[in-house]
Amino acid sequence: MNKKTITGIIIALIIIVIIGVVYFASSQGGGENRVLDNQTPNKIDGNAKSLVVYFSVPETDDLDNMTQDEENSTVVVDGEVLGNTEYVARLISEQTDSDLFRLEPVTPYPTNHEDLLRKAQEEMQNDERPEIKDPIDISEYETIYIGYPVWNADLPPIINTFLENNDFDGKTVIPFCTHGGSGLAGTPSTIAEKLDNADVILNGFELYRSDMESAPEEVDSWLSDIGVK
Ligand SMILES: Cc1cc2nc3c(=O)[nH]c(=O)nc-3n(C[C@H](O)[C@H](O)[C@H](O)COP(=O)(O)O)c2cc1C
Repeated sequence: MNKKTITGIIIALIIIVIIGVVYFASSQGGGENRVLDNQTPNKIDGNAKSLVVYFSVPETDDLDNMTQDEENSTVVVDGEVLGNTEYVARLISEQTDSDLFRLEPVTPYPTNHEDLLRKAQEEMQNDERPEIKDPIDISEYETIYIGYPVWNADLPPIINTFLENNDFDGKTVIPFCTHGGSGLAGTPSTIAEKLDNADVILNGFELYRSDMESAPEEVDSWLSDIGVK
């Protein structure tokens, strides 16, 4: 064998080894993961540390004497009166194993329906930012669900306080709401506009206030849709 032939054989062997190594590496799981990623491009990390923050105003303290408006805004679970959004927040927290935090204003809202409508109208017209009682530190959370009742086709002002007083950089934000017919009313986009550096999921959850009995199944199916479950 002359020198040229031996060099040729060595080069061929090196090429075969390189091809073998590349093929072996690509068959070790990496390929499978890529296929999964392609199928679920928006999959949310269900293992990320998550928090459910919500605002809700159950419009009564008197279970036995509720007006129609009060019944519309409340859910009674085991004798406990919950706001509609409060109920949904609890379900999301249970189903995602998230911490739960209620946004409460320093000055409580009236529980009487007409007074509440007036107060909300005034705050929204004046673009107020109601102060939050005992604010929460969100820095340790990667995923934050934010829940609210739709008010005048918009976010309640205290949600703006929460959005503006916290750093959401790099976090995933997932809106949910209850409402009296308007659906989300564009509120996830409003949140996305305010939080430049967060990943806001626009496919937020919404539930009509008369459909509260279906909330457990609806929440479950939505969490699957957005890839959390
Ligand atoms: C001040 C105020 C404004 C509201 N504005 C709207 C609205 O624009 N669209 C809508 O569908 N429902 C509206 N609603 C109904 C609430 O969104 C609905 O009853 C909600 O489920 C209440 O949730 P909560 O019990 O958690 O506070 C409004 C209620 C209040 C008190």
